[in-house]
Amino acid sequence: MTGVPDRHPHDVLVIGAGGAGLRAAIAAAEAGADVGLVCKSLLGKAHTVMAEGGVAASLRNADDRDSWQTHFRDTMVGGKLLNNPRMAQLHAQEAPDRVNELEAWGAVFDRTRDGRILQRPFGGHSFPRLAHVGDRTGLEMIRTLQDRAVAAGIKVYMECTVTHLLTWTDRVRGAFGYWRTSGEPVVFAAKAIVLATGGIGRAFEVTSNSWELSGDGQALAYLAGAELIDMEFVQFHPTGMVWPPGVRGLLVTEAVRGEGGILRNRDGERFMWRYLPEDRRNEYAATDEEASRWVEALSAGRQTDARRPPELSTRDNVARAIYTEVKEGRGSPHGGVFLDISYLPAETVRRKLPSMYDQFKDLADVDITAGPMEVGPTTHYMMGGIRVDPETGATTRAGLFAAGEVAGGMHGANRLGGNSLSDLLVFGRRTGEAAAAEAAGQDEVPQVDPVQIRAAMDDLAAPFGSDPGDDPHRLHEELQATMQSLVGIFRTEADLHEAIGRLAGLHARWPSVRVSGGRTYNPGWGLVFELRNMLIVAEAVARSARQRTESRGAHSRIDYPDISPAWGRKNSVVRREGEKMKVTSSPLPSMPDDLRQLITSE
Ligand code: FUM
Repeated sequence: MTGVPDRHPHDVLVIGAGGAGLRAAIAAAEAGADVGLVCKSLLGKAHTVMAEGGVAASLRNADDRDSWQTHFRDTMVGGKLLNNPRMAQLHAQEAPDRVNELEAWGAVFDRTRDGRILQRPFGGHSFPRLAHVGDRTGLEMIRTLQDRAVAAGIKVYMECTVTHLLTWTDRVRGAFGYWRTSGEPVVFAAKAIVLATGGIGRAFEVTSNSWELSGDGQALAYLAGAELIDMEFVQFHPTGMVWPPGVRGLLVTEAVRGEGGILRNRDGERFMWRYLPEDRRNEYAATDEEASRWVEALSAGRQTDARRPPELSTRDNVARAIYTEVKEGRGSPHGGVFLDISYLPAETVRRKLPSMYDQFKDLADVDITAGPMEVGPTTHYMMGGIRVDPETGATTRAGLFAAGEVAGGMHGANRLGGNSLSDLLVFGRRTGEAAAAEAAGQDEVPQVDPVQIRAAMDDLAAPFGSDPGDDPHRLHEELQATMQSLVGIFRTEADLHEAIGRLAGLHARWPSVRVSGGRTYNPGWGLVFELRNMLIVAEAVARSARQRTESRGAHSRIDYPDISPAWGRKNSVVRREGEKMKVTSSPLPSMPDDLRQLITSE
């Protein structure tokens, strides 16, 4: 290894090359900044490609009764009013422009019969709202954004893991990491840094997330002194694969239910009828017959007054229902429930859901045009994250911005499907522009602190120490088992207390993890730093979950089963104080009357 790392200066450095990172990088470059974009793997392989079913925007192509106001209301209601209202407003207002812009940049969406962008229904959305490309929407978005980013002249650094943020005086001024290909260290200096590293799914055993999603951005921001909010709100997507074991957790897109997929338990019962929330019961079909009329209208591209099927309840609710069916002994042979779309013509299923068809055929030897799939909940999305300013994506640490899943606030206690892709477009653009403006106000590419770089290099070398120590893979398994069993869909004080204790034990062992081999493509070595990040975010989740003594959205406390009006006006807040994690709460930003009326006037 060389003594002095390569140093790359930029106006704006974007860390993470999924949809949010790409959109931020494009916006910053188009605003005149010199931009560097760091990807942990290869450009185009980001986890956004796994967002399958669509991007939510009130384009009004499938139903002209839709509007940004209805999208705003659905998002707030779905988020159990814990969303930052200004973020939800900007998101609903700007999503249509961002989707149309994407189309102008070359994204090829599915079309209505008269040639407009086709939209499909998803849970919790009042109207068919998801612009889509079959069930490969994220892939098409990444392809389009990547082309645009390359054309904008952005410098891309692939196979590069950032392990430390570098500070100078009162600001974040740079980042330190290593090339996965060689293990050599690398330093970036920047006038503004955007974190866009996605979620934390790998902290759980069963997840739809790819290997890259290890809470890196949340942990880097926390270590640099920024605040995190609402970390207790982890989304368990209702439908992941449950069989075979090697693909347990892999996403089964909500588009299956959006296109009419029916959930049944072992006894053949359409159980979702029993789990609809009483206060919103009137939004759902009253009978099987009404639900069928809704599917028929959808298939024919007709607007309808029939209400949506019970399977299109919000994700928190459907995930709890499936979990409960399995727990009470009404599950499928492999510990899930059945999801059936095979009553539609086979050609329709293959055309609307080509990836699902291939996925089940290739991985489980199941033909979804001929019979049901087995599905169960999977850790999918982090609603909480780095606290940001709604207009700019600025974090509470100067020089540091965040966009996409790594940022908190937009989705409240539960995200509606499709709102993540629109979130990353809307706030990726805003954050990239703000970071470029911030950079333009700085004189020159900043200093990076040689003492911090030396310390970061020592951290990189530590796991190769000759003294015996723990295996990072074993620690990871213990972390995942703890989160899965004690901090999952249903939580209690006793379980959370136990989890926090176990996590502290793992944290204490972390400095003595040891790896063998060299630095080139050494996954064990890479895991050491990801493990540090996962331990931080796991602790933040467990402590925030213990603090919130109510059930709201994706956070379900068996010992506090109801929503508490007092908690509904508060964000959980996590910050670092010395070496300790401090968890408090702060009042939610107030909601202007005009927005409040959109929610209350139904
Ligand atoms: O089910 C899905 O296709 C996932 C989409 C999302 O999380 O927004």
